[in-house]
Amino acid sequence: MLSQHSHLVVPKQTSPINFPATMSPPSTAVVYDKHGPPDTVTRIANIPPVVMNANEVCVKMLAAPINPADINRIEGVYLVLPPTPAIGGWEGVGEIHSVGSAVVALSPGDLVIHAAYLSGTWQTYVVEDQSLWYKIDKNTPIEYAATISVNPLSALRMLEDFVALKSGDTIVQNGATSIVGQCVIQLARIRGINSINIIRDKPDSDKIKEKLIKLGANKVFTESELEVKDVKKLLDDIPKPSLGLNCIGGNAANMVVKFLKQGGTMVTYGGMSKKPITVSTTQFIFKDISLKGFLLREKNLDEAQYKCSIDHLLALVRAGKLQYEMEMVPFKDFHIALEKAMGKQGSQRKQILKF
Ligand SMILES: NC(=O)c1ccc[n+]([C@@H]2O[C@H](COP(=O)([O-])OP(=O)(O)OC[C@H]3O[C@@H](n4cnc5c(N)ncnc54)[C@H](OP(=O)(O)O)[C@@H]3O)[C@@H](O)[C@H]2O)c1
Repeated sequence: MLSQHSHLVVPKQTSPINFPATMSPPSTAVVYDKHGPPDTVTRIANIPPVVMNANEVCVKMLAAPINPADINRIEGVYLVLPPTPAIGGWEGVGEIHSVGSAVVALSPGDLVIHAAYLSGTWQTYVVEDQSLWYKIDKNTPIEYAATISVNPLSALRMLEDFVALKSGDTIVQNGATSIVGQCVIQLARIRGINSINIIRDKPDSDKIKEKLIKLGANKVFTESELEVKDVKKLLDDIPKPSLGLNCIGGNAANMVVKFLKQGGTMVTYGGMSKKPITVSTTQFIFKDISLKGFLLREKNLDEAQYKCSIDHLLALVRAGKLQYEMEMVPFKDFHIALEKAMGKQGSQRKQILKF
């Protein structure tokens, strides 16, 4: 379901108007009318005020990330797609601007995150049902509030929901430089779980390794360093992992599997290389590996689980125990941020639109 704004793309009203409480202000949004290359099919559009229902709130967006899934949705290659025309963006943080007459739990000025997996956060004002927003502590840095509900939440759930891990156990992951990967390292360390991390080969891979070790990684290897017969020899005294996480696909998935212990599980949650998962027959047969998939929106976390997980993650953020690299970009520079997020300028920090 889209925000009402998405169907109302008209020239912006520029005159200063006092809008009644039940009307939203005009909004500015990133719209795509059809699927295709995101840098060609997206445009900035002005959207007129909408009438708010009694249960709706109008949120003044403060920040929203450009995630890989946002790009895939615009490309039309994601499994679940909103109908077009659509407004981009899937998560974000904002401040309550005004509330409908039946809303009691939220008030103007509250800091809220988009608590549902619906599109439309790349716009200056969003009008949606009050149930789609979750009020959070105002002392949360907005770039973290904007990004907490997809990647850190996925990292947390994947560490909790597949294998019963205990302190001293080990996990292995590829895509360790991703936001999910950085969260996995830190959340694992907090629980005393070792992490083995695989990154792409790059001229500055030593620097990247240092950063990930600082976050709490036990081992970091480039893909080429793993082109050896027995990767276990690289582990020193770290136990073999029982859980592997794969967001890359192709041969990078097999590198995760090579580390797994007998009966281990590899969970695939992304496919950044756009290549099918490759797993060697020997590993599959002789180690009795399980291959599973993870999709956050299919987790169907109930409200209590969702709030508990988000509160836990945001508390870690505020305590300085969960950090990841981001770049805040003014909304007016959306297309520059999009190019970076699409990897057109090489590897980049996560792009966060600041409204
Ligand atoms: N299933 C779910 O519910 C769920 C939830 C959250 C996220 N995800 C998925 O998790 C993955 C990571 O998301 P994120 O937002 O954390 O990512 P991110 O911070 O944007 O980082 C992207 C990662 O992908 C790597 N990468 C980019 N292009 C690549 C390519 N062509 N080949 C190999 N590696 C490539 C990057 O490596 P470099 O640093 O070397 O550039 C980096 O590690 C994505 O696939 C996303 O869709 C899935």
